[in-house]
Amino acid sequence: MVCLGNICRSPMAEGWLKHKFKEQNLDIEVDSAGTANYHVGEQPDKRMILHAKKYGVDISTLRTRQFVVADYDRFDQIYVMDESNLQNVYRLARNEDDKNKVELLLNELLPAENLPVPDPYYGGEQEFIAVIELLEKATEVVVKKHTIN
Ligand code: 4NP
Repeated sequence: MVCLGNICRSPMAEGWLKHKFKEQNLDIEVDSAGTANYHVGEQPDKRMILHAKKYGVDISTLRTRQFVVADYDRFDQIYVMDESNLQNVYRLARNEDDKNKVELLLNELLPAENLPVPDPYYGGEQEFIAVIELLEKATEVVVKKHTIN
């Protein structure tokens, strides 16, 4: 899960996906990263931590890191939150195989619409809640792809 700062959208997406995989007893590695290095080593945004807790998801132990080329080797699928993240991640791709791993997360929910998960950083409480609920729906589709029933 990749966004710009790795403090709002991608840690929340990571939190949801880990939470849902655990519920389904699925042992699948999940991580998140930012394309920027502004917040490396920090906790996710306090507002996101607080709202996530209300949904039963604890993201307080996560720490921000920057996306690195090695992530293309470590992961089979790389979900980005918006077009800008997509371009930044593509810039580090070494070949077409790397690029083929990258997808806009919301295309799982609304295929081929190329919609962004809006950045809530400069928003208020409603923006944070809207992002959490959007990520809940999108990660649910991801989990369904990995379950047999
Ligand atoms: P995120 O949100 O990409 O969802 O983590 C942002 C966090 C920080 C900044 C921008 C977006 N920033 O400019 O510091």
